[in-house]
Amino acid sequence: MSDNYLSLATQRRTIYALGKDLPLAEDTVVQLIQDAIRQAPSAFNSQSSRALILLGNEHNKFWELVREQLRKIVPAESFHATSDKIDGFAAAAGSVLFFEDQNVVTGLQEQFAAYADNFPVWSEHSSGIAQYAVWLALAEKGIGANLQHYNPLIDSDVQQTWNIPSNWKLRAHMNFGSIAAPAGDKTYMEDEKRFIVAK
Ligand SMILES: Cc1cc2nc3c(=O)[nH]c(=O)nc-3n(C[C@H](O)[C@H](O)[C@H](O)COP(=O)(O)O)c2cc1C
Repeated sequence: MSDNYLSLATQRRTIYALGKDLPLAEDTVVQLIQDAIRQAPSAFNSQSSRALILLGNEHNKFWELVREQLRKIVPAESFHATSDKIDGFAAAAGSVLFFEDQNVVTGLQEQFAAYADNFPVWSEHSSGIAQYAVWLALAEKGIGANLQHYNPLIDSDVQQTWNIPSNWKLRAHMNFGSIAAPAGDKTYMEDEKRFIVAK
């Protein structure tokens, strides 16, 4: 493992204070996200990950949909804090919504019955790997990001607003943008409790 990789992996953090001044042209960022997902591994090279990339007003629209869904379930007295949090996410430049194509999963289950129970799990692994790949690719370009999960609350709105096929299952959404403030300190558990090495 090269030092470059570990230094990039360390640079990737959850950044909540994001702005709209991307250091790269929007089209370049879109290409970067697509390339990162394309190069991510998947079970049987099934390429089950899908993505909706939102920029500008489309990104803002996403967060307004989240806000309105939350308004229905968050008590009125605490909604102000929730709404402020949504303002923070909307202040970013864009978002990547990560889906997994369930038709791919069921197709694999039919094709390889012996592994049927594994394919939904491996699909989740593939999504996580794709998310991390994008997170690292953005970090490498000095673009900050954070990962959110308002699914399944937001699934139906997203499907209708952006014409998403019903077999695409939303798994996570990543906000990205210019870094307005660095990540907070991070603590790490002890290696002795985490790793077993046998040799
Ligand atoms: C599977 C997964 C789910 C996460 N979900 C959320 C989330 O819903 N909201 C959030 O603010 N951060 C979320 N995070 C970010 C973690 O809180 C964060 O990665 C962790 O605290 C370590 O901090 P770092 O990203 O700066 O290294 C998630 C991270 C992972 C890997």
